[in-house]
This record gives sequence, structure tokens and C-alpha cells, in this order.
Amino acid sequence: SKLEMFVDELPDMPKIHGYGMVDGSPKAKLLTIGMFRKKWKFHRDLPATTVFAYGASRHTATVPGPTIEALHGIDTYVKWQNHLPSKHILPWDPTIPTAIPASKKGVPTVVHLHGGINEPASDGNSNSWFTARFKEKGPTWSKRIYHYNNNQQPGNLWYHDHAMGLTRVNVLAGLIGAYIIRHPDVEGPLKLPYGDEFDRPLIVFDRSFLVDGSIYMSSTGNNPSIHPQWQPEYFGDAIIVNGKAWPKMVVRRRKYRFRIINASNARFFRFFFTNGLEFIHVAADSAYLGKPVVANETLVAPSEIVDVVIDFLKSKTDEAILGNDAAYPYPPGDPVNESNGKVMKFIIKKEREVDTWRVPKRLIKYPPPDLSSVSKTRYIALLEYMHTIGIDDPTHLYINGKPYDAPATETPKAGTSEIWNVINLAEDTHPMHIHLGLFKVLDQTELVNEDEFKECMLKKNDAIKCQISKYARGKKIKVAAHEKGWKNVYKMAPGFVTKILVKFSYIHSNSSYSFDPTAEPGYVYHCHMLDHEDNAMMRPLRLIK
Ligand code: C2O
Ligand code: CU
Repeated sequence: SKLEMFVDELPDMPKIHGYGMVDGSPKAKLLTIGMFRKKWKFHRDLPATTVFAYGASRHTATVPGPTIEALHGIDTYVKWQNHLPSKHILPWDPTIPTAIPASKKGVPTVVHLHGGINEPASDGNSNSWFTARFKEKGPTWSKRIYHYNNNQQPGNLWYHDHAMGLTRVNVLAGLIGAYIIRHPDVEGPLKLPYGDEFDRPLIVFDRSFLVDGSIYMSSTGNNPSIHPQWQPEYFGDAIIVNGKAWPKMVVRRRKYRFRIINASNARFFRFFFTNGLEFIHVAADSAYLGKPVVANETLVAPSEIVDVVIDFLKSKTDEAILGNDAAYPYPPGDPVNESNGKVMKFIIKKEREVDTWRVPKRLIKYPPPDLSSVSKTRYIALLEYMHTIGIDDPTHLYINGKPYDAPATETPKAGTSEIWNVINLAEDTHPMHIHLGLFKVLDQTELVNEDEFKECMLKKNDAIKCQISKYARGKKIKVAAHEKGWKNVYKMAPGFVTKILVKFSYIHSNSSYSFDPTAEPGYVYHCHMLDHEDNAMMRPLRLIK
């Protein structure tokens, strides 16, 4: 039996302020947020689902978790607490590099604030995991209370689990939430849609369910003799927005701002409106754009954030469905179907209104990347490894041929910028994410004779020795206008070299970090298809002085 679409109202997740008010001025705040097992209704007609949920208490925990609203320059401290039972609700695979407590009991968890510029000890290193009541801890665990200084540019972040080899199942179980850094002095004058009614996060992901309501995830791997459970990509057929499958929302005939986070493990969305409404991009990932960019569709990879204004005054109809037409895997996969091709429905009120919000011609301009300050050029190759050559069935995915626990090779100097040439030698687009840094996409060049180059790379894992310049001279693809700002994730196209400039300091000023970015355990960078990240398309990123 199929679930009926557009029956549940779009929920808003509870809001928690990451600052307190003392005598009218904002002050630092300590929050306590727990992880709980509980039941969650994803749809009116689906029995309640067992999930893992973040919340101030078990009672108030939600999927996604509460939206944390922080203020630029005001410290937020979070005591992340694991209240999960001894067993996971989803299958996991001990044959990939995985956090496994010695007692074999407890669910390892650790929280990463995605897009955050924070000290290494609060960054949620995969090996800094902990089980319930901190009973067992990973090798790099160092503190109970995480410190987010919020000194960076205003924008959208999200928090999610990041435990070694368990990120895909912990996130699938529900451990995600939005985090917004606001900077009223800078953002207020923009007059963009604001307030609980007109400015809302939309956290979108795909899930499959069994008839009893439980989350379905295959418990047999694609190469079961090697990895009994691990599958290279998780795809679900139900599309969930703010915790409800294909919800509906009644809107007024005026402008709204939606901060859309793709929290799927592996699904890309290419969003469009069935009635031709446009997306006015104002920010991408964690940073504002210099000026707004209008588009009819927007392709959003796992973990990317598009921040858009939708002007329902322009709607020619009283209803609009937000659709999706991205193949899965992306790009060479299956076309969408009736279920995963629809996201949610907007029901637009008839009365025209006077709109006090606007989209200004200029948003926030950050200094452009300074190519003369680049201190180093690196080559980062993404490769899948097949069980049997010729069978499209990876056993693992690596960066530069190295497992996660091989010593760090990416060791930028704090405060500098580097050029990274990301060479995607796999079949799919991989969304690569860099902790701490922000980057600009400069250039995308197709490889000629890719197979020849790949053969060399499989043997030597060295782009220079394999004469990258001989191969990186095919056609170029343009960077979409709304992706020319500072990003923390980007879609690395297969068969292309994507050149990015990564900055290891703030983009909004020349001030340096208020913490030591060279401290242990350092940062990471990885593919954000979580099934890839877990096995183990992830490498350490260690800053040096
Ligand atoms: Cu959103 Cu290292 O991740
Ligand atoms: Cu990947």
C-alpha cells in the first residue's frame, strides 16, 4: 500500500537559542542536548518509527533535532549527551573502519557542526566518539562540552553524527539538526524575509520504511563475502521534509526564505516547481552570495545547503509542488519515480498582500580569493576499488589511494590558502566537504584519455608522476552562478578535475582564529555520501603553524 502524499502539515523543528540575554545584551550560553531513542511519526498512515533523535529531553526530541540559533561573536557551548540504548536500530558493519566499544555495547556517537569554524577538540573528529554516559570513548576523545565560538560569517550550518564507520546509520536513524549563525548588524539591513513565519529551514532526506513503520536498510552488503552489510549508497523512496513524508504547507502570497539542507546519505535533489516558480538564491552552504541569483531549478548534493527566497506572489496557480528530477546515483543512475520525484506541496492563499520583505540587489560581499597568496598546490584523487575488475561493485573508496588512518598528507599552514585539484576517477559525482576551510570553485576541466590516467593512478597514486597535465585538457564546464560564492561542499563531477581555492582563515576579515587550529586531533575532509565517507573516502586534515 502506498502512502498518500501531502496529508501532513510541514512541521517546524523546535528552536533553541545558543545565547542568553542578560540586561538586554546577549551572553554566552551552555546548552544540553541529548540523543534519545524514541518513536517518531513520519506520516499520518505509517505506524510510528523507532528513531534516534536529538533534543533537550526525550520528550522534546525531534527528527530532525531542534534548530539552534546562534549569534555572531557570542559563544555557544553544547554538552552533547548520549542516552542511546546498548543496541543500534540499524544494521552496521564491523568490517569497515568502525568505532566499536570494547564491551561491544552502546552506540558510539560524536557530533560535528558542519560548516563551523571551531577548535579541533570541538569539531567532532570521527575517533572522538563516546557511548552512553561517556562509558566508553574513542582514541581522540578529549572533552564533554563542545565550544562553538560563532566568530565566522553569518549563515547556515547543520549538526549531525560523525562517528567512525557509523555516520551513515546514525544519520539514517535521525541524528541531524539545523544551526543558524545570525549577525543582525550585517543581515538586518538586507530586509530578507525574517521571523518564524517567513524564514524557515527545510531539512530534506529520503528514507524507506517497512509496513510496521521501521526504517528499512538492506542488511546484506553488495560484496557480502567482504563486507556483510555495507552498501555503497543508501536510497529511500519516501521524501521527508522536517520529519514528515511529502508534507504540505499553506503559504501567503508573498516572499518566504527557505534554508534547504540536503540531509540524505547519498541522494542528490534537483528541485523545481511544477508551476514554474523560481528560486532566488541568496546564500550557499554557510555563506551569503554577493548578489542574488535566480534559477528555475537547483541541484543539491548530500550536505549542501541552498538558501533561497520564493516569491509566491508570482505564482500563477493556487498550488505548487516542489519536485525532484535528479537520477540516483547521480548522474548516471535511475530516473526518479512517482515517489521520490515529489518533495512537498505548497498551497498558496488567494489574497494578494503587501510584502515588507525584499531581495536587495546586493547581499554580502566577501573579499575575492587571492591567488597570489596561495602557498601550495595539491592533487586529491577520488577512486573506487572494485572487487572484480570490470564489475561495477565497489568494496571501498579511497582518497589518493590511502585509508583514513594513514598519516595525514594534507597539512596546510593555518591562515593560508591552497589550491586543491580534485580528480574524480569514479563513476558518480562525489560531494566533497572540507572541515574548517571555505573554498571557491575556480575551474572544472574534463580529463582526456581518462582510462589511461586512471590505470596509472591505480598503480602509482601520484597525479604528477602520472602526468596529470597531459590529461587535464578537455572541455570545461562552468560553475553555476549561485555556486560561485564561498562553499564548504562541492559536487566533484566524474571524469573532471575540479580546481578549488581553499582558505584556512576567516573569509570576512583578516583576523585569525581565537583557538589553536593546529591542536590534536585535527580536522578531516571527505566525500559526503555517507556510505562512502564510512568506507573510507575520508582523510585527516592537519593544520600546522
Ligand atoms: Cu557534514 Cu565531516 O561532515
Ligand atoms: Cu563519494
